[in-house]
Amino acid sequence: MSLVVAAKPTASIVQATTVISGPVDPIPERHQQGYKLYLENCSGCHIAIPPEVLPTDSWRQILLEIDQHNGKKLEIIGPIVQIMWNYLRAFSRPLIKQTEDEPIPELIRESRYFQALHPRVDLPRRLTHDTCVTCHPGVAQYDYRTLTPEWENSL
Ligand code: HEC
Ligand code: HEC
Repeated sequence: MSLVVAAKPTASIVQATTVISGPVDPIPERHQQGYKLYLENCSGCHIAIPPEVLPTDSWRQILLEIDQHNGKKLEIIGPIVQIMWNYLRAFSRPLIKQTEDEPIPELIRESRYFQALHPRVDLPRRLTHDTCVTCHPGVAQYDYRTLTPEWENSL
């Protein structure tokens, strides 16, 4: 399987007009389907991970290796994977390597982009998708903006 990449990444997220309450960024109309398919297919075993915490390259790798996802074979047909890819690509940024051999992160905790979204937080070393809820009580609603009171009050 291959994933088609448009010549230029979509840059118009900021101009989005459709707003769904909850998610970190408003989802423009053309990514609504990808967003819904992502929630449907990628939040069965763990929380739906917000695209911006990993570079685009990581999402690409995950989708290309969908039949060997952490020991599970995900049965998702190609056209659906493609639509989810369009969504994930639009809401993440490509990895700008700081060194020649910087690996593509597979885990959230290895991602510089995840760390950059947490300037104030001394993140636990063993952090995984299970831990997000301790500070983000709305993860089940795909809401990463609402914080627990101790964080909310310390802003
Ligand atoms: C059949 C269950 C299952 C489904 C469905 C599933 N995953 Fe996973 N995923 C796992 C397991 C197992 C892990 C390893 C971490 C763990 O043990 O919870 C994991 C880990 C991940 C991680 C790394 C999380 C971290 O803490 O760093 C990402 C990113 C991820 N999955 C993305 C996806 C995407 C994208 C989809 C949809 C295409 C998806 N997953 C669907 C089982 C699943
Ligand atoms: C120890 C508390 C803590 C944990 C654990 C945590 N976060 Fe956060 N997160 C925060 C705080 C606080 C902010 C606001 C930025 C800041 O102040 O550093 C934030 C910001 C974010 C943002 C940006 C939201 C926005 O407004 O744009 C995202 C996305 C995010 N976190 C995702 C996650 C994910 C995914 C996980 C789990 C892998 C996670 N966080 C784990 C505390 C935490």
